[in-house]
Amino acid sequence: MTSRLADRLNKFQDFLGNEPTPELSGRLTRMVGLTLECVGCPMVVGDRCVIESQGASTIEAEVVGFEDDRVYLMPLTAIDGLKPGARVVPVSAASRVPVGPQMLGRVVDGSGEPLDGKGPLQAEARVALTGDIINPLNRAPVRQSMDVGIRAINSLLTVGQGQRLGLFAGSGVGKSMLLGMMTRFTDADITVVGLIGERGREVKEFIEDILGDEGLSRSVVVASPADDSPLMRLRAAMLTTRIAEYYRDQGKRVLLLMDSLTRYAQAQREIALAVGEPPATKGYPPSVFAKLPQLVERTGNGRPGGGSITAFYTVLTEGDDQQDPIADAARAILDGHIVLSRRLAEEGHYPAIDVEASISRVMPQVTETEHFARAQRFKQVYSRYQQARDLISVGAYVKGSDPETDFAIAHIANMRQFLQQGLNESAPLKDSIEQLLAVVPERRSPDRIKSAAVNTQPGGSGARG
Ligand SMILES: Nc1ncnc2c1ncn2[C@@H]1O[C@H](COP(=O)(O)OP(=O)(O)OP(=O)(O)O)[C@@H](O)[C@H]1O
Ligand SMILES: [Mg+2]
Repeated sequence: MTSRLADRLNKFQDFLGNEPTPELSGRLTRMVGLTLECVGCPMVVGDRCVIESQGASTIEAEVVGFEDDRVYLMPLTAIDGLKPGARVVPVSAASRVPVGPQMLGRVVDGSGEPLDGKGPLQAEARVALTGDIINPLNRAPVRQSMDVGIRAINSLLTVGQGQRLGLFAGSGVGKSMLLGMMTRFTDADITVVGLIGERGREVKEFIEDILGDEGLSRSVVVASPADDSPLMRLRAAMLTTRIAEYYRDQGKRVLLLMDSLTRYAQAQREIALAVGEPPATKGYPPSVFAKLPQLVERTGNGRPGGGSITAFYTVLTEGDDQQDPIADAARAILDGHIVLSRRLAEEGHYPAIDVEASISRVMPQVTETEHFARAQRFKQVYSRYQQARDLISVGAYVKGSDPETDFAIAHIANMRQFLQQGLNESAPLKDSIEQLLAVVPERRSPDRIKSAAVNTQPGGSGARG
């Protein structure tokens, strides 16, 4: 009896196995701004789908929210040619992106497609866009320093391998130039650069003029300019991180440079507002503040003995306002911040790093005692000069009234020169530390004040460009 039943069931199974699986599809019912509404097709948030548009073309979209039986989609590309009732077909395969050594020297978009006209990418592997999360207790601590090739950072704000820093600045103060210099001068094995939401013209300029062939040959660039859909910009930031993770997992010391974290947050804001999330702080919905650590926490050190991702995220401080909510959130989740000052840039002091306002939280763990003490001393002397600056400039400071200020006045020219660095001048970590030790003597001593001007030239690695 049972075997007869089994026979009959098997027959049905054979019959069903030959039938094509019915294709599930929904219909487009509404489009407001960039948000598309689809009914008739249950999908999960994060699922991908294609929408049939005019002619034979299709538009790729992703599920970003739902309400009752309506699913909200956000397109990845331009949405020309969509019409009411257009067919929406879910794509089963999860989003996979190319990774591998073949990506070195290449420029790709947020989907990993080449933008540089150097032909198709023969990537070694395709991986899911979101990597595995490393248990924080299994991560190697930040213990070794990382040479970023910038004298002021190497000496006074020493960066640790696996550290995550913010580069805070208003527009046009020299963020891109500084990132470009790091790419060319760092001793990291590989640099992964994410250009998120910048002007399209800047992407070309950054790659051709700032990175140049030298910088590009040791880096991978992911670019998603401002006119890309917000979803594409988010993906580009995730892809940048994913590529860095891939190299880290191969044991490499990776430097990740993302310009900018603010534009990433703005892309998330566009999506969240479009699906109806209420704005909270300065127009940013709460989900933005949840997304920031999700991105940033993926970088850092891997397991002990493995590779590392040292990351710099630029943060726009509009009107040089340090209280911007994104700047605030970034400061809380990053292990240090480097502030670029408009005043210094206007004086022609480049890189315009404000050493008083900047801090590297891991510096004590990654530097020798003498180096750290001297860096502190440098900052004290420098700050002392800044405090007396107004008095000095109007001639109201009387020499001899404060020995520490006199000391600062005697050394300030050399200290300023030490902080500046030409665009084509590399400053390796070792040289930077030696020059720091030379530029500001350990303790105040009357003899040294006199001879300071002649003895403390920041020599070493060549002329300033
Ligand atoms: N190290 C430098 N040496 C000389 N000039 C510099 C240096 N860094 C920046 N500048 C000057 O500042 C200008 C702006 O620099 P950059 O494009 O790097 O700024 P940004 O902060 O990235 O601007 P944006 O916010 O528009 O992206 C440059 O065009 C250049 O004239
Ligand atoms: Mg820039």
